[in-house]
Amino acid sequence: MTIERTLVILKPDAVYRGLIGEIIKRFEQRGLKIVAMKMLWVSKEHAEKHYEEHKDKPFFKGLVEFITSGPVVAMIIEGADAVENVRKIVGPTEPKQAPPGTIRGDFAHTTYKRADEKQIGLPNLIHASGSKEEAEREIKLWFKDEEIIDYQLPHEHHTI
Ligand code: RTP
Ligand code: MG
Repeated sequence: MTIERTLVILKPDAVYRGLIGEIIKRFEQRGLKIVAMKMLWVSKEHAEKHYEEHKDKPFFKGLVEFITSGPVVAMIIEGADAVENVRKIVGPTEPKQAPPGTIRGDFAHTTYKRADEKQIGLPNLIHASGSKEEAEREIKLWFKDEEIIDYQLPHEHHTI
C-alpha cells in the first residue's frame, strides 16, 4: 500500500448535469482526500496535451471537442493506492459496461451517435489517471505546486 495522488476531471457533461457534488461525495465518503481543486474551461491546446496518448485514434478530434465544450472541474485526489482505487470508483470507460455502484455505472449515459455520425468522446462524466506515470504527468499539466494543499483529515490514520 502506498499513498498516491491521482488526477480527476469532472467533464462538461458532469457539470451541465449538476453532478459535481454527487461525484465528489463518493470520493469523500470513501475517505480519499482532495488536495487540489479548480473549475476551468480548457483550451484546445491543453486538451490535446492531456489526451496526447490518443492523438492517432479516430475519436481524438471529437474527444477534444467534447472536453472543451464546457467547464470542467479538475482535482487531485490523494489516498492509499489512489490511482487504482479511484479508477474502481469511476468504473469502465464505456458507460454501458460500467457496473452499478460505479460513477459511470450509476450516472453516465450509454454511448450515443451524433446525427452527422461524427465520432465524439464518450460522454462518460469523468476522467481519472490510468497509471501512476499518467497521474504524475497529468498532475504537472493541470496544477502548479502551490495549488496543492497540505493538510490532514481527522480520520486519515484510520483510512490509510
Ligand atoms: P479517461 O482517460 O477519460 O479517464 O477515460 P479512460 O481512461 O477510461 O479511457 P481512455 O481509453 O483513456 O479514453 C479517453 C476518453 O476518450 C473517450 N473515448 N471515446 N468514441 C470512442 O470510441 C471513445 N473511446 C474513448 C472517452 O471519453 C474516454 O474517457
Ligand atoms: Mg485514460
